[in-house]
Amino acid sequence: MKNVIELKNVDKEFKVLNRHEGLKGSIRDLFSRDYKIVEAVKDVSLTIKSGTIVGYLGPNGAGKSTTIKMMTGVLQPTRGEILVNGCIPYKNRTSNAQNIGVVFGQRSQLWWSLPLIESFKLLKDIYRISDKDYKDMLALYESLVDIKELYSKPVRQMSLGQRTLSDILAAFLHNPPIVFLDEPTIGLDVSMKAKIRDLIKALNKEKNTTVILTTHDMGDVDALCERIIIIDKGAMLYDNDIEHLRNFFGAYRTLKIRTNKSNEVVSEEKAKAQLDDIKNKIESNFPGNDFIYGTEEGWYSILLDESKVHLMKVLSFLQEQMTIYDVRLEEISTESVIKKIYEDSERTKKLEKADVSHED
Ligand SMILES: Nc1ncnc2c1ncn2[C@@H]1O[C@H](COP(=O)(O)OP(=O)(O)OP(=O)(O)O)[C@@H](O)[C@H]1O
Ligand SMILES: [Mg+2]
Repeated sequence: MKNVIELKNVDKEFKVLNRHEGLKGSIRDLFSRDYKIVEAVKDVSLTIKSGTIVGYLGPNGAGKSTTIKMMTGVLQPTRGEILVNGCIPYKNRTSNAQNIGVVFGQRSQLWWSLPLIESFKLLKDIYRISDKDYKDMLALYESLVDIKELYSKPVRQMSLGQRTLSDILAAFLHNPPIVFLDEPTIGLDVSMKAKIRDLIKALNKEKNTTVILTTHDMGDVDALCERIIIIDKGAMLYDNDIEHLRNFFGAYRTLKIRTNKSNEVVSEEKAKAQLDDIKNKIESNFPGNDFIYGTEEGWYSILLDESKVHLMKVLSFLQEQMTIYDVRLEEISTESVIKKIYEDSERTKKLEKADVSHED
């Protein structure tokens, strides 16, 4: 399989005005040359093989959209090299456009007041899609989703779900080798999310399209991604198969307990206090184990590494300390794996900082 995307030591810096507060500050800003540099992407290198669905993940402001904008040619990298299907995106924007399809979350790229089928016809002309390929593609679409009923509908009259669906179909219409999806399921309900995921999967399979997906929804990742790349503060944290990630965290399990009766309403403050109490008790009895705590709908969760501490030990300890009404054990979810990677990187950074100050 060939590499369809290659990034080598890519940096992207934005020059932004240092804003000052108040009226005086605003006036000063008008004349100011006081800029600061935001490093949105730092030394990112990656290669992506044809036909894969890759999750490009990271917390808010990590640099995901900026990377996608560079791969689509909207932004020029400050340093480094990018090749997308053999093209340098920002230099060859026309040929790059033939190679890629793009969906940017809530912003539709379709013609707002045109019936969907008219938008498709315009795209057919723009991308010079042959009559046969166009017909075949629509036939494929009609076999996958109920798109026919949307053909006569202008995009502005569509629900968010219908619009997202239409946007995705529009992005695949000229059968590009690569499609970028920036948060395609944002704001959708559970059943629409499932529909969109099925559609992306089917199109990837049918057309062997490479898909680069950014999302905050771990359901998307579980359903779609074979490989994930995680970035934070512009820098790469992780790049490997999703299987590798799950194996790596294989010893992690989540213990969930209820310390209130199931019909009892617990205020947010009380829940927080109870979780803090659980946390303090565990930390004093099992110090230095990096547990991760959470709360959800009356359940308190403790994520732990069973290669260090047995879950049953923690549970029986807690049972001595408090009344527990219900217990659940869960394998680690992708969500907690990713959370753990983010948190570990924070911790590593803190340690690095601590080391530096130590040397002073
Ligand atoms: N045009 C711009 N000018 C200045 N700074 C920018 C610009 N675009 C992005 N940034 C900054 O670059 C960083 C990365 O932003 P980016 O939009 O790539 O994050 P993201 O990972 O897509 O986040 P989110 O999950 O919130 O969508 C942020 O600090 C952001 O404020
Ligand atoms: Mg973004």
